[in-house]
Amino acid sequence: MQEIAEQCRVFASDDLVADLSNLLTQYPQQAVFLLADEGSFAACADILKSIPHFDACRTIVIAQGDDNKNIDTVARVWQFLSDNGATRKSVLVNLGGGMPCDLGGFCASTFKRGIDFVNIPTTILAQVDASLGGKTGFNLGSLKNEIGVFSVAKAVVISPVFLKTLNHENFLSGFAEMLKHGLIADADYYNRLIAFDTFEPDYDKLHGLVCESIKIKNRVVEADPKENGLRKALNFGHTFGHAFETLQMRRHTPILHGYAVAYGMMCELIMSRNLRNLDPHFCEQACVDMSLLYGPLQVSEDDIDELVELMHHDKKNDGRGINFSLIPQAGQVEVNIVVERSEIEKALRDFLVINFS
Ligand SMILES: NC(=O)c1ccc[n+]([C@@H]2O[C@H](COP(=O)([O-])OP(=O)(O)OC[C@H]3O[C@@H](n4cnc5c(N)ncnc54)[C@H](O)[C@@H]3O)[C@@H](O)[C@H]2O)c1
Ligand SMILES: [Zn+2]
Repeated sequence: MQEIAEQCRVFASDDLVADLSNLLTQYPQQAVFLLADEGSFAACADILKSIPHFDACRTIVIAQGDDNKNIDTVARVWQFLSDNGATRKSVLVNLGGGMPCDLGGFCASTFKRGIDFVNIPTTILAQVDASLGGKTGFNLGSLKNEIGVFSVAKAVVISPVFLKTLNHENFLSGFAEMLKHGLIADADYYNRLIAFDTFEPDYDKLHGLVCESIKIKNRVVEADPKENGLRKALNFGHTFGHAFETLQMRRHTPILHGYAVAYGMMCELIMSRNLRNLDPHFCEQACVDMSLLYGPLQVSEDDIDELVELMHHDKKNDGRGINFSLIPQAGQVEVNIVVERSEIEKALRDFLVINFS
């Protein structure tokens, strides 16, 4: 197992059974607890079966989906740990996407004032983003990730074997965060991603690309672990993205996070062209490529006011106006750009033209 990102303690594994066995030898067998959601348990738990530490280990399977990333599930996990004799020396292994990794990380970090946890992310989104960087937590009603703590996993173990069962939508959702990493940090990496066949993925190649993304996120987190400044670079595409995500949720036609980010990146590429001289040809090509991958979003001119309102409420804003991270050129990012309403509306209108063409 090779350590590929020190700050986030990420290890790439090409022999999962041997590597996890090794990692867990520091814990007595009865100290290991496994948390998964229904989907990750069904798709991935068998892969762990031959590892002695998981043989008969105490396992909690929680309901899947972000609706269940709530205080009730947190309480169930705490109770399960308590009922099954977890101690300060126990370790909680979170198997799954961002949902169980976020929630399990929080439960472990607060149970008995904090026990170890290990993440085994099984979605692309969790491998390149959610399982690393120390943000753990859960939703408070409709407020996403409202409660949480910064707490870094003991280890994050990455293996391509899990990704083969992901459906295309979840594949593309995580892929959007990889595109984001390319756009903010490495233009050559972005170009290789755009050329990647997402319909018939070459999983070895994908694993290499995932590792590149992890290294980019790790570099950003290393420079700014508590999101005081530079880490805002990772918010590229997310100011519009969160507004799209919430709008679609209100309308009971939810879209996956990565899709919302992809549409958000298209808007913020346009804004980068308008306000930061991003090359118009690059902007146009990137928007066309992303709209081919993600298809159209169900929004219209009539939604502009509501979207701007939603952006005002986004927690990234500091009261001076709406805050963006924009890219003056592919592979570079500038944070804390306050943008006025007319420019936001202009970018949305340009996006709508591409969205419906
Ligand atoms: N902590 C952070 O820094 C951070 C960053 C980004 C996102 N997040 C959080 O991550 C979550 C989204 O993550 P996600 O997209 O991984 O969602 P998810 O964990 O809900 O997984 C998506 C779906 O895929 C299923 N699944 C998981 N692994 C699978 C596999 N290998 N094969 C088949 N199906 C599988 C799950 O059961 C689920 O139904 C959100 O809660 C978001 O808030 C956190
Ligand atoms: Zn995101």
